[in-house]
Amino acid sequence: MQNKLNEIREKAIAQISAATNLDALNEVRNTVLGKKGELTLVLRGMKDVAPEDRPKVGQWVNEARDAIETTLESQLKKLEKEALKLRYESEKIDVTMPEEVLTQGSLHPITLVKNELVDIFGSMGFFVYEGTEIETDYYNFTALNTPDDHPARDMQDTFYLTPEFLLRTQTSAGQVHVMESKKPPIKVISPGKVFRSDDDATHSPMFSQMEGLVVDKGISLCDLKGMLDEFVKKIFGSDNIKTRLRPSYFPFTEPSVEVDVSCFQCGGCGCKLCKGTGWIEVLGAGVVNNKVLEGCGIDTNEYSGFAFGIGLERIAMLKYGINNIKMLFESDMRVLKQLHE
Ligand code: PHE
Repeated sequence: MQNKLNEIREKAIAQISAATNLDALNEVRNTVLGKKGELTLVLRGMKDVAPEDRPKVGQWVNEARDAIETTLESQLKKLEKEALKLRYESEKIDVTMPEEVLTQGSLHPITLVKNELVDIFGSMGFFVYEGTEIETDYYNFTALNTPDDHPARDMQDTFYLTPEFLLRTQTSAGQVHVMESKKPPIKVISPGKVFRSDDDATHSPMFSQMEGLVVDKGISLCDLKGMLDEFVKKIFGSDNIKTRLRPSYFPFTEPSVEVDVSCFQCGGCGCKLCKGTGWIEVLGAGVVNNKVLEGCGIDTNEYSGFAFGIGLERIAMLKYGINNIKMLFESDMRVLKQLHE
């Protein structure tokens, strides 16, 4: 009997030590200690053992079972440790690997300026009209008091598509569309791209403007000035900015003005940005010429209006300190990345 138990024990211990995974371990456990396991069968056979031998045999069986269970336990721990090590190996993170750079897109500076203007004027009650980039000669010039032979046509070098159609040179073309389709009171802004055959550090053949038009009873140059004062404070972010109107000429406004703002960099003392003058030109404006209103069927005895045109690139260049307009169109990421506030 003792030999048989030793045999079972040795065989089981050898199998346990050879087991390389948990399944193999369980297999050995079942064949030895399971319901019909070899050791279990010996235990069941105890009834056939002579009563005086039972304590001894019982002790052998217990010893064999303890030895097998201890080996099982330690082999189990060993296998678990190895499995954990393998997992650590496979999930190892190399912290010296270069990171995967995820770049996030953002809005172009001109779009940011446009959105800001729409917000500012929107809060003053202006609605947005988006005109078309291809216009007729009539809306771009004639209806704006600039007939065929008018010398003011030379102020803007125009890209003609046909004698009748052109790429709009100014968002002012939208004024006429709005006044033709809507009765006063009118309070509208019209942002968009405009085109002129013009190309140097401060001019691009394609640039963006935002037109503003107000038509109502009793509108005067004072209303324009008051509104512009509000506007420049908001767009340049300071309450100390002042505006100054200088006489100018546009065929569709009378009187016409150029609007300067006090230099927000030097506060008006004179610096490089304002070329030592203390003032920076930001837009053209004026009281809408009666001829334009009448052409749109608006009674000038009852109504008057003002209009203004803002160059968005100019505002962006001033806000972001850019001295070449081309930087806004070259899509150079090194430049664009710096322009985000
Ligand atoms: N359209 C003019 C320009 O492009 C600007 C302007 C708009 C002037 C409205 C007066 C009134 O130069």
